[in-house]
Formats: sequence, structure tokens, C-alpha cells
Amino acid sequence: MLEESVDARILEIMLAGAGFASGEALSRELGVSRTAVWKHIKGLRSQGYRIESVPAKGYRLVTAPDLITPADLTRGLATRRVGGRVVCLKETDSTNSVAFRMAEDGAVEGTVVIADTQSAGKGRLGRVWLSPPGVNLYCSVVLRPPISPVAACQLTFLSVVAVARAIERVTTLSPQIKWPNDILVDGKKVAGLLNEMNAETEKVNFVVLGIGVNLNMRLGQLGSTLRHPATSLLEASGQPVQRVGFTRALLEELDVLYDRFLVEGEAPIRAEWLERSAIGGRRVKVSSGDREFRGTVQGVDAFGALLVQPEQGPLETVLSGDVTL
Ligand code: BTN
Repeated sequence: MLEESVDARILEIMLAGAGFASGEALSRELGVSRTAVWKHIKGLRSQGYRIESVPAKGYRLVTAPDLITPADLTRGLATRRVGGRVVCLKETDSTNSVAFRMAEDGAVEGTVVIADTQSAGKGRLGRVWLSPPGVNLYCSVVLRPPISPVAACQLTFLSVVAVARAIERVTTLSPQIKWPNDILVDGKKVAGLLNEMNAETEKVNFVVLGIGVNLNMRLGQLGSTLRHPATSLLEASGQPVQRVGFTRALLEELDVLYDRFLVEGEAPIRAEWLERSAIGGRRVKVSSGDREFRGTVQGVDAFGALLVQPEQGPLETVLSGDVTL
């Protein structure tokens, strides 16, 4: 059994029983020595779990931290691929960079890397993604879809829709999608996605889906130099979000969408993306490279490019950039 699975089972057993779980019962149930059980209890304590231990009675879980741990996350996680392996780090430069290196070294599809804080969180177009500790979700998922490199951008539809669905599952908020990959609540950015890919001419080796969601960040932490107004789920709803619960919901939604993508392609997910879009049919200002123009959004094509009808001239296909309402 993987080390994190032993942790998960110990927590499960302690949660299932109302009182104490004896060291002997745990060792029997898990097929490991009592010394190993003790080592795992010590490990769980160092992750912030308060576990009471009473001689002749055993162990009892008193409180769990709002940390995202592999044991908590994988307990009851109903997925086929996503989250098959979970790595949680206290601090790193960027979960995307860690996941990318792990994928280069052969990490299985569905591997998830999460950090409590990032010292160099990467945003789109070379921007920095603010990543204070203890409050948000910074997560990267390794996928190995059997598709061509040109189709890889379609995976953005998946992660954006998954984040929107997860927000709806754990809050009463109504998130909206803003091209290319922002999630807005009340018109303010609450999440961003950054996909990175390793590919050959014909085939994708792997894609890293990078997902940052502002969960419990307070206004003062949001930074004053942001290009677009930002918020967090806590600021928008007034309710703190349990980080493990949100992350589990997100991984489950991503798994369902990825399954569907592999069977049916991007069309049904793009349709949901469009339904959830904040800019469909609206007049916007497009900034792409050193060009700016205004027009009305007609939709997105199968490769994620924005289709905009300017006041004059032919329909424009915008491959990258920013839009403002
Ligand atoms: C954006 O600019 O909107 C994209 C932000 C993406 C941030 C996430 S946080 C987890 C992952 N690791 C990174 O370094 N970036 C992505």
C-alpha cells in the first residue's frame, strides 16, 4: 500500500469509529506493524492533525487541519484517472513546473500536484500568480490524452468548466467564464488556468493543467497591481470554503469531463463553456499582441479561438490576448 493510502485508511478508521482505534486493530486492518502505525500517526500529526493517544485505548482524531493532504483528498475521491496519485507540497516555486518535471520522468496520467504556497506562481502571458499560504488552491494535473498538439488547447475548456462546476457544488455563487480561461464571480476574477504541454509534431506526450482558485484570500491579500479586478470565494459569498472539499469536487468534475472528452471530443464541453460564458453576444474590447479593436463576440471555435465581429470588416479569429467588456 502507498504511504499516503495508509494515512488515508488510518484517518478513515478513526473517523468511522466514534471512540478510540487501538494500535493493534489498526495494524491488523492495514497489514502493517504497530511501529509503522505509530510512525504514520506521527506523520499525520506533523501535517496538523490533532490525534489523542491513550495507553490501552489507542488513537482518536480530535481535529483535522484545513490543509490539503493526499490522505484527506483521496479519501472517498470518486474518480477514474484524476487524482490516482496526489503530491502535496508545503511550498514550491510553481506546481506547474513540478508537475511538468514529474511528467517528464514518467508520472502517470492523473497525477496531481498541489502546493500550500508558490514562490513563483505562473500566470498567463508571463504574469505572476499571487500564491499566499493557507488560503487558496494551487493545483496542477498531468494528462496524457491521445490527441494531436493542435487539439491540446481544447483541454482548456475542460479545466474552466470543471472549476465553474466545482464552485457551484460548494457555494451558492454563479461563476461565469471569460475568454480565454478566467472564471469570474460578480464580474471579478476568482480563478485562472495555465496549461503547459510537451509534444512532438504528431502527438502530445503530456499536458499539465494548472489551476489557481482564490478560495479564502481576503481583499487585502489580493494585491493592488492586478490588471483586472479580483476576488475570492470567501469575499464573494461571505463563507469560508473548505479547501479539501473544494479540491475533491474539482478533481471529480475534471475526471468526468476528461472521460467525456476522450469519448465524445470537445463539442459538448465547448457547448457548456459557451452557455457559461460572460461575453457571448456582448460588445468587447480585444487586445491581442499590439493590436486593439472592438467588436461583438460570436463564440469560440473548436480550438478555443475567440470569434469577434468588428463593426466593419470580416469576422476576426483571435488566438490569444485579453478581452474587456
Ligand atoms: C492566469 O494568469 O489566469 C493563469 C493562472 C494560473 C495559476 C495556476 S496556480 C497553479 C498552477 N501553477 C502555476 O504556477 N500556475 C498555475
